[in-house]
Amino acid sequence: MFYGTDWGMQNRMSRIINPETGGCLMLAVDHGYFQGPTTGLRDLDKAVMPLLPYCDALMITRGALRAFIPPKMNKPIVLRVSGGPTVLNELSNEYITTAIEDAIRINAAAITCSVYIGSEFETQCVDNLAQLVNEGERYGIPVLAVTAVGRDMNRDARFLGLASRVCVEIGAHMIKTYYCEGFRSVVKACGNAPVVMAGGKKIPEREALQMAHNAVAAGAVGVDMGRNIFQSDKPVGMIQAVRAMIHEKVSVEEAYKMYQSYRPAGAKKKSVPRKSK
Ligand code: R5P
Repeated sequence: MFYGTDWGMQNRMSRIINPETGGCLMLAVDHGYFQGPTTGLRDLDKAVMPLLPYCDALMITRGALRAFIPPKMNKPIVLRVSGGPTVLNELSNEYITTAIEDAIRINAAAITCSVYIGSEFETQCVDNLAQLVNEGERYGIPVLAVTAVGRDMNRDARFLGLASRVCVEIGAHMIKTYYCEGFRSVVKACGNAPVVMAGGKKIPEREALQMAHNAVAAGAVGVDMGRNIFQSDKPVGMIQAVRAMIHEKVSVEEAYKMYQSYRPAGAKKKSVPRKSK
């Protein structure tokens, strides 16, 4: 049984976390709310539409959803409802930007905000989360808390375990946090609340797959990945590989081969010019 007791809450959670496999591949494309037109998401619709069939849920803002994604799509939406500062300013100074009524109107499966523990605006962030949990509980909408690390905060198990546990104690139904050494203790700190691993900055595909594998082996239900998918040279190959690891438990090696061998429909193999004798 998923965390939370209300039927609507559990139903929404089971749209995000596949009840058959217990896994979750959330695709994060909410970066624009503080970064503007992020590399790989300038044409958000073109980047996201080919990836949609392979994700279990889409993490996005209401503005990007309405501006780029057709409403006939039927993937669950994890709606980013916090914001305020951009990369040009103190990131932790976030507020709730989206009313719960709009999340309901959008048919969000979950709502989400960042929580900058240890930051200048820590209390404000915790208060944002508390407000969302109160509203989410009222309407049966789960809340995903993102343990944000800001520009130069620590990403060790001690910090992430503390940040994640604080979010659980405030009432978050699901936690998104970064991978680190000793990740198992971070997952453990969350009790029954499911944990998804945040992708972070773009790293080589093999390493990103290994990191996702390690996170799941340490108890995460899956990933909420953005840049390591949409900034890949083969975004569809990469999301297929991550999906196969999460839902079919293929090895990192097999997943990497899937990514490497992916060819878009209609693409020709590069012809190798013959050596002239
Ligand atoms: C950060 O707070 C945002 O939610 C990002 O969208 C998120 O961290 C996931 O994206 P990435 O995998 O690119 O780090």
